[in-house]
Amino acid sequence: MWKSLPLVALFAVPSFQSAISKRFAPLKFSKDGTFQVSILEDLHFGENAWDSWGPEQDVNSVTVINRVLDAESPDLVVLNGDLITGDNAFLENSTVYIDKIVEPLVQRGLTWASTYGNHDSAYNLSRSALLARENRWPNSRTTQMVSGREAGITNYYLPVHGANDNASTGVPAMLLWFFDSRGGYYYQELDSSGNEVAQPNWVDDSVVGWFRTTNAKLVKKYHKHIPSLVFVHIPTNASQAIQTEVGINPYKEPGINDDYVLAQQGEGWCADGSNGGSCEYGGQDVAFMKALVDTHGVIGVFSGHDHGDTWCYKWDSLISGMSVEGNGINLCFGQHSGYGGYGSWIRGSRQVLVTESKLQDMEIDTWIRLESGDVVGSVSLNATYGEDSYPRTPDTLSSCPTCSYT
Ligand SMILES: *[C@@H]1O[C@H](CO)[C@@H](O)[C@H](O)[C@H]1NC(C)=O
Ligand SMILES: *[C@@H]1O[C@H](CO)[C@@H](O)[C@H](O)[C@H]1NC(C)=O
Ligand SMILES: *[C@@H]1O[C@H](CO)[C@@H](O)[C@H](O)[C@H]1NC(C)=O
Ligand SMILES: *[C@@H]1O[C@H](CO)[C@@H](O)[C@H](O)[C@H]1NC(C)=O
Ligand SMILES: *[C@@H]1O[C@H](CO)[C@@H](O)[C@H](O)[C@H]1NC(C)=O
Repeated sequence: MWKSLPLVALFAVPSFQSAISKRFAPLKFSKDGTFQVSILEDLHFGENAWDSWGPEQDVNSVTVINRVLDAESPDLVVLNGDLITGDNAFLENSTVYIDKIVEPLVQRGLTWASTYGNHDSAYNLSRSALLARENRWPNSRTTQMVSGREAGITNYYLPVHGANDNASTGVPAMLLWFFDSRGGYYYQELDSSGNEVAQPNWVDDSVVGWFRTTNAKLVKKYHKHIPSLVFVHIPTNASQAIQTEVGINPYKEPGINDDYVLAQQGEGWCADGSNGGSCEYGGQDVAFMKALVDTHGVIGVFSGHDHGDTWCYKWDSLISGMSVEGNGINLCFGQHSGYGGYGSWIRGSRQVLVTESKLQDMEIDTWIRLESGDVVGSVSLNATYGEDSYPRTPDTLSSCPTCSYT
């Protein structure tokens, strides 16, 4: 069941001292002026390791990854949270699933960057051990730029340089920001009653502060607001407000809209920071939402977490009940990529195609590559996104003999 890694990978892993110092060169647009990201999210490896069903789902997930990468050949893969289902993890081997996830990427010489999700922290699964496991691979660009127990791990940015830029001196053409929306349970911690200790599920204020300060320094250094994309596992309350107060138009915001009402940062927590089960939402993501709309250059925010939502919405107004007003930033879900995790919506992966010449107009193109090979929801996130009409995305389910648990 647990296929061993190919020889090349086995030899690659131990010599990490040299591998780390020779990390992949800075990210760059291709000669044709494009940069494509494939987002794999909610892979949920390592479910039910004690029976055959769990490992079968990991095999199915690897098939999805291979199909997507064969069809798309991206410049970067983003693993956008819930890589592993930590709730089911065994202490002795909870991070080894990383190797299985990245094997198809390593085989193709691809480089990747991760955010961690709520299932990536559990009593038996440590986020910092996950980072260490990822970084045994030189292809990994995942890192940690904010320290502290409350910050989470995957808060960092990566510059992407223009095809003709000198990456060591030039102004980056684009920035990729990665945030840790945390959640799950702290590693190997129990409270005085012997219960696991819940980790808050929003981007912490210390990280929001780091984002604002770091971005201000970059604006000062480069004398411009650099166009950027944001990746974070759990969407903010703006996505829920859009879904419930405005509604998703299937022809203008094509995508599955089946996770209703969607779960967002701060879900299940009270405003005072307790989470005894009595509150639906504590409003802790307001600081992060404000920072997102205050940061000139952010074109899109890409989230996972809600496996049955796959749309993009241009948030350009003050939505009833909210204090933060959208500035035209695109809020996108991807597609459930793994066979672990809830829901049987068809698996796939959101693609983001950035073209250097379109960046000054803050335009990007995106579509979803399904495991079937089909493409759905192909749209331009341009000035008229939300007004333009597109084909509706069918609400298709995966058909797979082993994919529902019996
Ligand atoms: C992890 O350990 C569990 C319990 O010993 C075992 O059932 C499972 O197969 C192991 N998983 C891997 C990937 O080695
Ligand atoms: C943690 O891992 C240990 C050792 O494999 C296992 O016995 C235990 O059941 C796991 N605990 C949880 C909460 O998953
Ligand atoms: C980039 O700039 C650095 C510093 O000026 C220089 O040493 C290097 O040769 C340049 N690289 C290219 C490819 O032009
Ligand atoms: C969160 O969204 C709901 C709608 O789902 C809205 O009523 C509420 O005012 C929002 N709260 C904040 C703080 O954004
Ligand atoms: C945005 O893209 C759509 C689809 O390609 C196109 O029909 C529309 O004219 C574009 N809008 C602008 C302002 O370029």
